[in-house]
Amino acid sequence: MCGIFAYLNYNVNRERRYILQVLFNGLRRLEYRGYDSAGISIDDSPPPPSLSSAAPSASSNDPPPPLVFRQEGNIESLVKSVYQDVAVTELNLEESFSDHAGIAHTRWATHGEPAPRNSHPQTSGDGNEFLVVHNGVITNYEVLKETLVRHGFTFESETDTEVIPKLAKFVFDKANEEGDRAVTFTQVVVEVMRHLEGAYALIFKSRHYPNELIACKRGSPLLLGVKDLNEDTNSGSALHDSKFLSKNGHPRELFLSSDGSAIVEHTKKVLVIEDGEVVHLKDGSVSILKFDNAKGRPSNALARPASVQRALSILEMEVEQINKGKYEHYMQKEIHEQPESLTTTMRGRLLRGGSCKAKSVLLGGLKDHLRTIRRSRRIVFIGCGTSYNAALAARPILEELSGVPVTMEIASDLLDREGPIYREDTAVFVSQSGETADTLHALEYALENGALCVGITNTVGSAIARTTHCGIHINAGCEIGVASTKAYTSQIVVMAMMALAIGGDTMSKQSRREAVIDGLFDLPNKVREVLKLDQEMRDLAQLLIAEQSLLVFGRGYNYATALEGALKVKEVSLMHSEGILAGEMKHGPLALVDESLPIVVIATRDACFSKQQSVIQQLHARKGRLIVMCSQGDAASVCLGGSCRVIEVPQVEDCLQPVVNIVPLQLLAYHLTVLRGYNVDQPRNLAKSVTTQ
Ligand code: F6R
Repeated sequence: MCGIFAYLNYNVNRERRYILQVLFNGLRRLEYRGYDSAGISIDDSPPPPSLSSAAPSASSNDPPPPLVFRQEGNIESLVKSVYQDVAVTELNLEESFSDHAGIAHTRWATHGEPAPRNSHPQTSGDGNEFLVVHNGVITNYEVLKETLVRHGFTFESETDTEVIPKLAKFVFDKANEEGDRAVTFTQVVVEVMRHLEGAYALIFKSRHYPNELIACKRGSPLLLGVKDLNEDTNSGSALHDSKFLSKNGHPRELFLSSDGSAIVEHTKKVLVIEDGEVVHLKDGSVSILKFDNAKGRPSNALARPASVQRALSILEMEVEQINKGKYEHYMQKEIHEQPESLTTTMRGRLLRGGSCKAKSVLLGGLKDHLRTIRRSRRIVFIGCGTSYNAALAARPILEELSGVPVTMEIASDLLDREGPIYREDTAVFVSQSGETADTLHALEYALENGALCVGITNTVGSAIARTTHCGIHINAGCEIGVASTKAYTSQIVVMAMMALAIGGDTMSKQSRREAVIDGLFDLPNKVREVLKLDQEMRDLAQLLIAEQSLLVFGRGYNYATALEGALKVKEVSLMHSEGILAGEMKHGPLALVDESLPIVVIATRDACFSKQQSVIQQLHARKGRLIVMCSQGDAASVCLGGSCRVIEVPQVEDCLQPVVNIVPLQLLAYHLTVLRGYNVDQPRNLAKSVTTQ
C-alpha cells in the first residue's frame, strides 16, 4: 500500500517545472500501489547559500517553509491542483534550483478516509519543519500521539503517520533546548526510529536541513537510485566503487522509491535499502547507518547504528516493461504478453537434453535444498489471493511427482489460527510482490517454528525473497495492473517445475515427467492460441454486462481456475462472482441455479471430465444458463443436448491446463470491466501490494 518517491538534484540546475515533472512521473509509476490521494513537497525558493551548510536551529534565519500540496483522488487530480495553486500563488515554474530535495506520495488509505488532511506528506505542523512520506503502518501511533498531545502538539489528520514528523520536531526542539545546536538530521531520525513500532519505509524532508533527505525502513520496500551526470552511468566499475557514497562535487541526481519502476527511466544503478538502514542524502553523497537489530523491537538495540558501505547493483528492468505499449491498459498488456512471460519464466531452467540426455529441470535457487524438501514431513503452500490460487493449481502435480503430502494455507488464516508448522515442514511462500504483509508475517512465524522456508516471488530483493532460506524467482517481468494475470500463470509454471525438481528421476514417473516437460515447452504456443479468443470473450462480456452475478464451477486441476476466474471478475468488473468446487455443487450451491444466473463450467479433458459432464447434465436439468469451457472439439460432448455457450480451448497436459484455462476468464474479466466503464488497472479500494495486515 502506498508508494513513496523522492528526487534530489545536486550541483545541477533544475527548474521547478522539471522537478515537479520528475516527482509526478515517479508517482504515476507507483500509482498502482495506491490511488486514493497523493501529495508532494518542494521548496518555496532556493535557500540562501549561507544557510544550506549552516548549523541548524529553529531560528528566524531558516529558509521559508517547504511547500506542501495534497489532494484527494489520483495523481492527475494532484497534478491539476498543483498547477492551479502555482498559477494562483504566482509561483515561478522557471525558477532554477542547483540543489533541491522533493518528496512525493501516493496513498492507499489505512487510517483515515481519503482526504487532503490524511494525505502525505504529513507535517510537524505550521512551518512544515519536518515532512514525512510513509509506506506501512505504525502500530504504536496511539501511544505516541497521546504523549505528543501532552507536550502540546495538535493533530489534524487521522493517520498513523502524523506522529512521525511531530516526533521529529519534538526531538529536534529538545536537542536545541538542551543546547545541541549541531544535532544532525540523521540523529533526529534515528531518535524517531527508536520509538516507532510497525512496518515502514519513510522519507524525511526538513526545513532545517535544506537539500537533504533521510530515508529509513523496516519491513516496507525502498530503493535508492544514483545517477551521476557527466559519467557513463552503466560503467560496471562504478558499481563497486565505494566512493559512490561521496562524489566530491560531481553533479548528481538521487532517487528514492518504493520500487524500481519509478527509477528505471532515470538510472539503473540502484541500492536496495535494507531493514534497519538509515540513508542520508546530502551534497550528492549517500551515507548509510545500520542498526544491528533491524527486525527486533525498537529498543536500545537501535541506539548504536554503525556506518556501512554498500555496493550498487543494476536494476533488471527495462523502461518498455513499464509502458503500456500498444495496449490501452496494463491488465490487457499483461494478459497478452503471457506467451513471452512464460518463456522467460522457463528460460534456462528446462533442459531437453541431447540424444542420450534425459529431459530435466534445473532450479538453481533450490538445488542445495532438494534433499531436505524430499524428506519433509509435508510441503505447506502459503499465500494470499491469486498467489494462493496458483499454489492450489500446482498442488496436485506436486503431490503426484514428489509423493510428499501438500497442504494449503491462506496466510492470514494460518496466523489467525496459529496453525501448526513443524521443523520437518517445507513451507513455500508464494507472492508476486514479495511484500504482502500477511505472507511475510506467516513467513516469520514459519521461521520461528523451524521450517525450511522457500520463496516464490516476482520481485528480486523483496522482503520475502530475502527472508526465505531459498527460492525461485518467477521472472514474469514487472506486473503493474492491480489484478494479477501473468504472474499467476508464471507462478503455476514455476511450481510445476518445482514438482519436477523435487520428484527427481524415479523410473516409475519418467514418462509422466517427460510429458510435463514437453507440455511446458509447448505452453507459450498454446497460450498464444487461446489468446485468439479475445473477441469471443468480448462478445461474451457484452452479453453479461448487466448481470449481477457469475458463478464459476471447476474441480481437480481446475478448481483453482474457478476461484481465480471468479476473483478476476469480481475484483475488476465489480460484478459478484464466486468460484465453486463442482464436487460441492449438490451440497448447497445448486439452490442458486435458475434460468437467469450465468454459470461457467470448466470441463476440459482430464480425469475429472466425466464427473463434469454429469455436473453439466444436472445443471441442464435445472435449466441452468451455462457457459462451458471445454477442450477443442468437445463442444458436442459437453452440451449434451441442452443449450449452452461453449468456449473451446487447446488441450495441454492436464496439470498445465489451468495455465491455458485461466486466459479466457482473464479476458472476460478485462472486457467486462471496460464495457461496464470501470477502471481496469486500478480497481476500487484495492492496491497491488498489500503491505498492511
Ligand atoms: C488479485 C491479486 C491479489 C494478490 C494478493 C497477494 O488479482 O493480485 O489477490 O494475489 O494480494 O499478493 P502477492 O502475490 O503480491 O503476495
